[in-house]
Amino acid sequence: MDENALLAEQLAYYRAGAAEYDRPYAEHADLQELPRCVDGLPIAGDVLELACGTGQWTRLLAARARAVTAVDAAPEMLALARARTASPTVEFVEADLFAWRPPRRYDTVFFAFWLSHVPPARLPGFWDTVADALAPGGKAIFIDDGPAGAGAEDVLADPAVPAAVRRLDDGSKYRIVKVFHEARALTSDLTALGWSVRIRTVAGQFIGIAEPAG
Ligand SMILES: C[S@@+](CC[C@H](N)C(=O)[O-])C[C@H]1O[C@@H](n2cnc3c(N)ncnc32)[C@H](O)[C@@H]1O
Repeated sequence: MDENALLAEQLAYYRAGAAEYDRPYAEHADLQELPRCVDGLPIAGDVLELACGTGQWTRLLAARARAVTAVDAAPEMLALARARTASPTVEFVEADLFAWRPPRRYDTVFFAFWLSHVPPARLPGFWDTVADALAPGGKAIFIDDGPAGAGAEDVLADPAVPAAVRRLDDGSKYRIVKVFHEARALTSDLTALGWSVRIRTVAGQFIGIAEPAG
């Protein structure tokens, strides 16, 4: 399967499944615990959130930020995020992150459970976009599944791009990109791309804080 088709199927999955998306946040103890980590993160000033989904994190960011710009490509996700995050300091933007370029700079760029959906070949370009979005002294903060997350996924054997199959309540199946980054390897990859990065693991997930080195 070609990478563009896989990314289109990934977005189709999130659009079709927006109404089901919050269920794991309600059902899994670690996902209920994880958002509490926001309090200890250096979130400040004007915040850009990439792939905001239903706004699980947007409302927490809004409580810490001067203003939040939250981007997602799925209008169904954005509708839920808007309903959850009624704040005059939050702006939602519908855009494809593989084409979108930041129109300005931000003090914090935040993305939860998005990095694992970026194909490996697109990671350097993605991190360039993050760097372009950061004001001097700004930080990128990211949260995602570590290798332990693979056990809960229907991982596809040996695809050209690391991928998994997800199912919705109506039985429909979608392929998505899913890269289970290991903290040490990701640290080394980001260092090679010119970032200064700290990554810690929290119950199967990881939290990273990165800034352009030098
Ligand atoms: C795993 S969810 C993460 C949502 C949210 N950050 C969270 O942690 O709950 C991935 C999100 O990426 C969005 N998405 C998928 N493809 C996208 C694309 N090409 N551009 C922007 N957003 C996309 C989906 O609509 C979905 O909201």
